[in-house]
Amino acid sequence: MAERRFRSRDWFDSDRIDMTALYLERFMNYGLTPDELRSGKPIIGIAQSGSDLSPCNRIHVELAKRVRDGIRDAGGVPMEFPVHPIFENCRRPTAALDRNLAYLGLVEILHGYPIDAVVLTTGCDKTTPAGVMAASTVDIPAIVLSGGPMLDGWFEGELVGSGTVIWKARRRLAAGEITEEEFLALAAASAPSAGHCNTMGTASTMNAVAEALGLSLPGCAAIPAPYRERGQMAYATGRRIVEMAYEDLRPSRILTRDSFLNAITVTAAIGGSTNAQPHIVAMARHAGVELRDEDWSLYGYDVPLLVNMQPAGKYLSERFHRAGGVPAAMWELLQAGKLRGGCATVTGRSVADNLQGRESTDREIIARYDQPLKERAGFLVLKGNLFDFAIMKTSVISDEFRQRYLRDPARPGTFEGRAIVFDGPDDYHHRINDPALNIDESCILVVRGAGPLGFPGSAEVVNMQPPDALLKRGVRSLPTIGDGRQSGTSDSPSILNASPESAAGGGLAWVRTGDTIRIDLDAGRCDMLVADDEIARRKQQGVPPTPPSKTPWQELYRATVGQLSTGACLESAVDYRGTAAETPRH
Ligand code: FES
Ligand code: MG
Repeated sequence: MAERRFRSRDWFDSDRIDMTALYLERFMNYGLTPDELRSGKPIIGIAQSGSDLSPCNRIHVELAKRVRDGIRDAGGVPMEFPVHPIFENCRRPTAALDRNLAYLGLVEILHGYPIDAVVLTTGCDKTTPAGVMAASTVDIPAIVLSGGPMLDGWFEGELVGSGTVIWKARRRLAAGEITEEEFLALAAASAPSAGHCNTMGTASTMNAVAEALGLSLPGCAAIPAPYRERGQMAYATGRRIVEMAYEDLRPSRILTRDSFLNAITVTAAIGGSTNAQPHIVAMARHAGVELRDEDWSLYGYDVPLLVNMQPAGKYLSERFHRAGGVPAAMWELLQAGKLRGGCATVTGRSVADNLQGRESTDREIIARYDQPLKERAGFLVLKGNLFDFAIMKTSVISDEFRQRYLRDPARPGTFEGRAIVFDGPDDYHHRINDPALNIDESCILVVRGAGPLGFPGSAEVVNMQPPDALLKRGVRSLPTIGDGRQSGTSDSPSILNASPESAAGGGLAWVRTGDTIRIDLDAGRCDMLVADDEIARRKQQGVPPTPPSKTPWQELYRATVGQLSTGACLESAVDYRGTAAETPRH
């Protein structure tokens, strides 16, 4: 490998022997020698996202050993350090607060310590974007190693996917079909092993996105956590990052507008999570790449659904991996001319080169491009007087649902309904079964106060289920609209991530229960049918109140965060790029 002077030399072989001695001595106290640290070998960080508080990523505590082996065998020196935990299901009030916090912490570590390149260990939803955003800010060579999904869940002979089973079990519990004990048993069955969600929820989506962006070795995302290939992938990743350090293959040489457009198209084709929208936008902004709202419709709508995984389809991760995983889905898109094959990747080869010979071996789960599960199954961007931007995942809209809201057969994309408005999820839980609201199948449920500023942190609460009385009559879902997000494992047809949010004075602040809302999918619009002077009158009443911050970070988060349409970034952070180009002063 070519000679290179790594930035870690500025610590371990610096212009001042007194400082060099100080930097070196404490690393020796766990057995490293001055020779290895002063050998000129690259110091490779392993950003450890697994812990007891991050069960989705906990496999990385084991996997890191294989990463270290790979790094050592390729001639690097590994140094593992913790990343702020992000556990989607357990973090209150919402894990959304933690993406920017983990990002910030990781930037400081990568910038301020003698690290030449980094393995980003990922899994649970936001651990992937947090790592990629930080790697772009610092711009040292970085590679994504996901921990992999759990094994497929089974219950009484049926596949049960994590997350997705919860939304179904909630409906069945409310309808009186299962007991509380059965609810728990279903949930446990969906999570049979180490790993992240086994559905095409946000975790699988974001790790597929990392692969589509060219940041993981091909095939990495879908390997189930307990499979032997996972440990082998960890080893290969460790080896490759050392070569990348020598090649100076930094995120800025991989992440381009084309690679982000690929990520949008892949997200649509796999039936990926709507949470990919703010995360992809955030990663792009931190990489200095401009994405426009329309890009979601232009590159992410007219894409067929190719992957038959829950929640949009039937199966789970193990079968997806065995069929070829993300490269096989990308292969279909590449053949159809839907991917930009020339993009660079961590392998040192192009996307198109990486996909050679990666055709699917199982057409039941990865369909042919010309025989997809659904046509035009991607994302639609909507705007109107309720918001300037919101996103909808069309792959989960059922035919039954289309029929119910249709007002005019000549306009099959236009739906109307009566708004039922809730101020945050607490208000929803408090009042959803209130007979006075008179909720029927002509209603549209609206939740506000769930965005980055309002909640704070943008909560996954927009997939609200109908009142128990409707569930008992077999009405499984109502259209929902909100300024929060929705779990990627949900099959609810929702209008999400509405920006600007109610707390920022967006249109949702002015809608009232009883208003008619019109959704026109063909025109990309969503409006309350309320006269402008009436909206102006309502504005006099002010924005609906939101709860106070409960921790210092919540206050800092609110003071710095942008809207979901622009990635809910820490706004002042997106201008920092390539901070490692200059070594920090002593
Ligand atoms: Fe962590 Fe789904 S809750 S991956
Ligand atoms: Mg989630």
